[in-house]
Amino acid sequence: MFANVMVVFEVFREMAKNAAMGIPAVRDARVARQRTALPLDASHLDRYAFPLLDLVTTHVGSVIGKTILEIGPGDNLASGLAFLAAGAKSYSALDRFPGPYASELSRRWYRLVEQTWSLKYPHLKWPAYLDANRFPNYPEVTTFPISAENFNQTARYDVVCSFAVGEHVSDIHAFAALNRRALSESGVGLHVVDFGGHQWDRPEDPYLFLRFPVSVWRAMGSNRGFPNRIRFHEYLDAFAQSGLSVDVVDRRAFKTVGRRPPAWVTRLPEESGSIQEATFVVRRPR
Ligand SMILES: C[S@@+](CC[C@H](N)C(=O)[O-])C[C@H]1O[C@@H](n2cnc3c(N)ncnc32)[C@H](O)[C@@H]1O
Repeated sequence: MFANVMVVFEVFREMAKNAAMGIPAVRDARVARQRTALPLDASHLDRYAFPLLDLVTTHVGSVIGKTILEIGPGDNLASGLAFLAAGAKSYSALDRFPGPYASELSRRWYRLVEQTWSLKYPHLKWPAYLDANRFPNYPEVTTFPISAENFNQTARYDVVCSFAVGEHVSDIHAFAALNRRALSESGVGLHVVDFGGHQWDRPEDPYLFLRFPVSVWRAMGSNRGFPNRIRFHEYLDAFAQSGLSVDVVDRRAFKTVGRRPPAWVTRLPEESGSIQEATFVVRRPR
């Protein structure tokens, strides 16, 4: 009983937050603040600064001389600094809710990236031109305050990548089409999608989001980039339908098994109920 009351309370609270984010002034004030309240500590860099560089290097190859487009970098551009430090030619980023990329707090993260670089990547010399105190004010860096769904630049990139963003876009067909349009002929897209519980963090239930009626889910998150509830196999379909080849180079399963989807969810492939995180690599057809 108490648990049910708490869920209803939580739902109403989320609806109120979503309604507030529909007001432009509230939205602007909210995104100007750091979203993740992480203590500034080098132990977080493997999660928040280096994962895309590491994944792209592992699954695609060296980024030296490459042009990079990241979708949804989050509060700061530490991942972009890492790409440039590793030799990328340019770094561009688009985000529906762009962070305060040149704030003092962001720059503290950039300084931490620079300070830890030689330990983390002893074989990669930090470029002389790159200064964490000045980043991201470089001609090599471009940012677009726009959602993936509305991004219509004509530039092509060698790498299009994202980490924990695909599950937030409201239209994954537009997300897939962006990859198709923005990738150069030999370009590669790499996207890590997190199908887990996010702020509800109930990792034992892979179907948590699907237990809410669509209308309630939208009322809680439409203005906030809430997880979209789209499942693993639908990403495969969206990439394939946009004419891209797709490989899943890594997948992590939910820890618990045996939970059943809600009765109204039919024809959900088994793997879509068991995969908590997947890394998709997409390419244009040759
Ligand atoms: C969970 S955060 C991940 C941030 C960062 N990539 C990381 O790994 O910490 C999701 C990011 O995607 C952005 N985002 C959400 N929906 C988006 C959309 N439709 N188009 C572009 N960016 C979006 C958010 O503003 C946020 O910066």
